[in-house]
Amino acid sequence: MSKCPDTAAPARSLVILISGRGSNFQTIHQACLLGAINADIALVISNRPDAAGLVYAREQKIRTRVLNHSDYTSRNQYDLALSSVIDTIEQPFVILAGFMRRLTGSFTRRYTSRLINIHPSLLPLHPGLDTHRAAIEHGDRWHGCSVHYVTEKLDGGPVIARAVVPLYKQDTPQLLAARVLAKEHMLYPHVIQLCLTGRIEWKDGHILHAGIPLQYPLAF
Ligand code: GRF
Repeated sequence: MSKCPDTAAPARSLVILISGRGSNFQTIHQACLLGAINADIALVISNRPDAAGLVYAREQKIRTRVLNHSDYTSRNQYDLALSSVIDTIEQPFVILAGFMRRLTGSFTRRYTSRLINIHPSLLPLHPGLDTHRAAIEHGDRWHGCSVHYVTEKLDGGPVIARAVVPLYKQDTPQLLAARVLAKEHMLYPHVIQLCLTGRIEWKDGHILHAGIPLQYPLAF
């Protein structure tokens, strides 16, 4: 695991980055309303103006911002704009929820230990796109989702927790995606709350669970 700089004090303002449907964002919002996550969603940012998740955010009167990636000529320029918007929030905890863009190292380092993602596979298996098809074609017996800290390596940061589903003979990528998504909606709010309360930290190159280095990701 790589080293990370100072861990900031636990943040309570969430900034959520989306590109599309936003079902994870909606689940996180519901968990905030129910008190299962002890935080408020301060801002939702989408890189696509037509992201369906924006509709829900507006209905719920959550502040939104569209930063359309096609308005920027380089990844660096986009990420600078993104961080200047995020930094309008004090001590943000940044959550990628279906945000379909690679992030530069200077961006990910700026939010080290305060930037997490959910990925629909049992990382390190199947990083990138089309993970459900990959699991089926690979003949995996198990599949699932992972929550990890974000580094510049695509889906490559240290994994905090995974949730597992079985693969069945009759599975299609669609059937499997639905089974995994149900697990995502359980796992992500739970891990966010663990991070916000400091039960999970990324410090000195280790993920700590209640202060003890994790040997393996938490399993759900
Ligand atoms: C989820 O499968 C998530 O794991 C992946 O992108 C998808 C986003 O779905 N990173 P949604 O927009 O949260 O419904």
